[in-house]
Amino acid sequence: MEDEIIALRKVTKDFRGGSGLTRSKQSLTRAMDKVTIGVKRGEFLGLVGESGSGKTTVGLAMLKLLDVDSGSIMYEGRDINRMSRRETRDFRMKTQMIFQDPYESLNPSLSIFKTVSTSLDVFRKEIDEDEKLRIVSTMLSILGLDPAEDFLFKLPRQLSGGQRQRIAIARAMILDPEFIVADEAVSMLDVSIRADILNRLIDLKNRRDFSMLFITHDIAVARYVSDRIAVMHLGQLVESGEGDSIINSPLHPYTQILINAVPSSEDGNAAKLIPFTQGDWEKVNRGYPGCSFVDRCPFVMDKCRRVRPELVEKSPGHFVACFLYE
Ligand SMILES: Nc1ncnc2c1ncn2[C@@H]1O[C@H](COP(=O)(O)OP(=O)(O)OP(=O)(O)O)[C@@H](O)[C@H]1O
Ligand code: SF4
Ligand SMILES: [Mg+2]
Repeated sequence: MEDEIIALRKVTKDFRGGSGLTRSKQSLTRAMDKVTIGVKRGEFLGLVGESGSGKTTVGLAMLKLLDVDSGSIMYEGRDINRMSRRETRDFRMKTQMIFQDPYESLNPSLSIFKTVSTSLDVFRKEIDEDEKLRIVSTMLSILGLDPAEDFLFKLPRQLSGGQRQRIAIARAMILDPEFIVADEAVSMLDVSIRADILNRLIDLKNRRDFSMLFITHDIAVARYVSDRIAVMHLGQLVESGEGDSIINSPLHPYTQILINAVPSSEDGNAAKLIPFTQGDWEKVNRGYPGCSFVDRCPFVMDKCRRVRPELVEKSPGHFVACFLYE
């Protein structure tokens, strides 16, 4: 689609366990199975699914941080795997990733100022120290680290988890990127800090025009920040659509279960999702021809075991891969 900033088309990625002679088909994991997904300009796309469903793999592939086996990945209409060195440098400047764990992703020996300004040193060499200080301070304030002077020359270990994650976001935002992958960026934080950071991300989106793939296992969090939501199950994309449409009218049985697993504020009850098993994975990894959800689906039909359902557009912009909607 023309309005997509990044687009994956039928992208497959296998991981092989072991090495050398111990490499075998047995230990193959198909982390992405013909995934077709795009993020539109200026939108936040929430990518949800249980642990191991392939979300991080999609995010890494979008940022050219992982080699894929087949399919195409286009950024602003250009194949990211055929970029020249100059184009790759430009791509690195325009794209960023925010990781889940700020404890691991920040260099413990660098001051906050140095941490956030490093990419200015690399990509915006013309900026002098005073201007750098001003740009970094403004970004810290926007992210709730105010007054910025109280933080600039501290080390990561002198900050709380929430403050560190704000630094990680500031670092990702400092070059005004066009596209960001946030991978479980608030999952480790307390609810109130989480809400504040999410609100600031939404505010930043309104101030600076950028797109984001927002990866989370929590569909409620995805709904809060995202314009659209995409759902992954065992390496496959099973549903995507506008946030409201996915939450209010989920079509795929898996999405329905994910939504029911969100505790309702009225009764506090949560439907339990049976965790997928090694058996489910092995089926998919060995080229199982049917739907990946057969063993957990309450509506399974004969055909589901024989043929893989393709994504079809059930209503404008709402796609689902399930034979219930043929
Ligand atoms: N480097 C790797 N080597 C081998 N297998 C991998 C590697 N990275 C991911 N996998 C496997 O690929 C599958 C998808 O992993 P991925 O990390 O993308 O899932 P995820 O949805 O991000 O999970 P989580 O919510 O736990 O972060 C998993 O089975 C995982 O074990
Ligand atoms: S295709 Fe069949 S098994 Fe898969 S989700 Fe739909 S009804 Fe269930
Ligand atoms: Mg992950």
